[in-house]
Amino acid sequence: MDVTGDETRAAWAIASRKYEDEYAEHLEEARTVALLPEEVEALGDLVVGADVVHPMSGHGLDDIALARLGARSVHGLDYSEAALSSAQRRADELGMPCRYTRAVMPDSGLESACADLVYTGKGALIWLPDLPAFFAEVHRLLRAGGWFYVYEAHPLVPLWGWDTDEIRVRPDRSYFAPSHVNDSFPANGAVERQHTLSEIVMACRRAGFEIEHLDEHPEPFWRPEHLNAAAAWDGRLPNSFSLLARRA
Ligand SMILES: C[S@@+](CC[C@H](N)C(=O)[O-])C[C@H]1O[C@@H](n2cnc3c(N)ncnc32)[C@H](O)[C@@H]1O
Repeated sequence: MDVTGDETRAAWAIASRKYEDEYAEHLEEARTVALLPEEVEALGDLVVGADVVHPMSGHGLDDIALARLGARSVHGLDYSEAALSSAQRRADELGMPCRYTRAVMPDSGLESACADLVYTGKGALIWLPDLPAFFAEVHRLLRAGGWFYVYEAHPLVPLWGWDTDEIRVRPDRSYFAPSHVNDSFPANGAVERQHTLSEIVMACRRAGFEIEHLDEHPEPFWRPEHLNAAAAWDGRLPNSFSLLARRA
């Protein structure tokens, strides 16, 4: 199963055409885009004046939101050329201090201690087979005392069915499985890596971070276009988590 990550990268090469196809909609969204209220609250004034690095930056809308919150610079990293070029064009059009370079994480290609804040999530950690290597890279990028923030799908989410009548746990998934093939993702065949909450927290600690904040949220950060309400989103289950950690 996709040991090298090549199939997932190929799946993203196809899926990332949406970044170009949806350029106009994203540009409109970018004019007013903001981080989620939970993110704004957790980050407080950490963003003000910060040099931010955003691995797996995707469409880059969060970069514009970070710039609006007062970031001095935002450096987005992604392996999709379509994501990088459309995000750069959008940021330039709006006069935002964002720049984008290609990176295959966990190798960012950036110099050590270049960031005050590393921000990521919303569909990022699930593409990384080697979480300790990724956290070590985040640690290397941060200046002493710098911050690492993740807002991500809760690791239990692969188990939730999207039934609207009642909550069902998918019989074909396990919380403790190392991965599964995503069957809803626009590019079929992408392999989602699974990391349990304890694996994420412990890998973060072992990489040299102190956990400042860990929270679980009932709301999903993303809903498929065809589905307005799944029973799993009715407030009884965790659908997202957020983590703020400080580089020791
Ligand atoms: C679901 S998107 C989410 C990104 C962003 N939060 C957003 O909302 O657009 C995931 C992005 O990660 C990128 N990606 C996946 N694995 C990667 C890796 N190992 N290195 C760099 N980029 C990666 C993909 O190209 C894609 O743009």
